Amino acid sequence: MAIERTLSIIKPDATRRNITGEIVARFEKAGLRVVASRRIRLSEMQAKAFYAVHAEKPFYGSLVAFMTSGPVVVQVLEGENAIAKNREVMGATNPEKAAPGTIRKDFAESMEANSVHGSDAPETAANEIKFFFSDLDIVG
Ligand code: PPS
Repeated sequence: MAIERTLSIIKPDATRRNITGEIVARFEKAGLRVVASRRIRLSEMQAKAFYAVHAEKPFYGSLVAFMTSGPVVVQVLEGENAIAKNREVMGATNPEKAAPGTIRKDFAESMEANSVHGSDAPETAANEIKFFFSDLDIVG
């Protein structure tokens, strides 16, 4: 199986509730390793650029406002099939549809305040990792 890297963001609803450690523990228990981590406050420009793919969606403005409303923790997770594994551990975008035992089922407040973001494909993962980290920041 391929060792992959994926970009994870612990969102402002989770940093506000001080549950970043509980979320990281879920990643680690699933066999994912945190190989880079930084707590930051996204600027409006950064959030708009990061979510540019959703620029035409009705929720874009609200999503940008939410993602800049408090600190986030950006991380690179590494492991076998890390991209799919992370999405499995996160659960569905809509917490009402997320499987039992997933991060979003247990912690998310809504479609928007859903506690975590994870890259959805290898190309997206590479671009999203580059958005926040240089090669020197990542220690495997
Ligand atoms: S889509 O339309 O299928 O591409 O959307 P999805 O991949 O499910 O979600 C993309 C991100 O947008 C957020 N989202 C929303 N925010 C606010 N309101 C609504 N209705 C809404 N729907 C989706 C969702 O949290 C996703 O954020 P990320 O950070 O990518 O997980």
